[in-house]
Amino acid sequence: MNHLGANASLATLATLAVQPIGVFDSGLGGLSILQALRAELPCEDFVYIADSGHAPYGERDDAHVLTRSRAITRYLRDQHNVKAMVIACNTATASAIDLLRLENPGFPIVGVEPALRPAANLSRTQRIGVMATRGTLASARFRTLLDSVPGPVEFICQPCDGLAEAIEQTLQTGDATNLIANCARYTRGMGPFGQNNGQIDTLVLGCTHYPFAQMHLRDLVGPDIHLISTGEPVARQTQRLLQAGAKLRPSGAGQLKLGTTGPQTFLEQAAAQWLAWRGEALSIQ
Ligand code: DGL
Repeated sequence: MNHLGANASLATLATLAVQPIGVFDSGLGGLSILQALRAELPCEDFVYIADSGHAPYGERDDAHVLTRSRAITRYLRDQHNVKAMVIACNTATASAIDLLRLENPGFPIVGVEPALRPAANLSRTQRIGVMATRGTLASARFRTLLDSVPGPVEFICQPCDGLAEAIEQTLQTGDATNLIANCARYTRGMGPFGQNNGQIDTLVLGCTHYPFAQMHLRDLVGPDIHLISTGEPVARQTQRLLQAGAKLRPSGAGQLKLGTTGPQTFLEQAAAQWLAWRGEALSIQ
């Protein structure tokens, strides 16, 4: 390697050392993925964007979700020089990941999908509930995922209109009445839970908001039902992708920045509660 080459690669290493990973969701749900990412990748810096000013995504059309996903990707790349991005939202993954990958060649993008295969591997009754947004369940991507799971397994897919909003509302007001009513309505809609044949023994949380309602869901379905979310596998996949691209930061204590298109205090409160993060969130348009 010549002298210029050596300098150039040192410069590349220096850039990598400070480049954060971008993460976004329609709101606060993606913090459940961010928790797992920070645990798996403690040396990495993260920038998390909550698109609360344009939420919910799950009951809007594809065009809205795609436009927002593009705008946030551009913002993360242009303003924060992120080295990779995690779409911490099932709905945005379903609507936008293919196009975002096409439009951003060479830029690693990880998405989130309902964990149907892990659920099928765990279930004994082979009857599995799937809670997700209407947008996720109606997507071609979800249909392909569903068709890819082999065997006699049966998925009971429940669109959960309003549930992500109820989770955010509970955080804001401290009142879980509406949230519990929504959880009760949707678990009832899927049919009996239990360990006997014909009963649902595994429940997939197919929206990144829903792990924050886990306590109420657990009360409703009982202690023996598997509740499956996706934070850890997504974090491991991100780690693998960065490693393969020699983009992992080898040492240091990772920093976190938060930004929102909605009220800042709302995100700050949630991050304090769920990530023990203290600071001021950026306000973005
Ligand atoms: N958290 C998002 C997901 O995983 C959706 C919430 C919303 O409807 O905006 O699908």
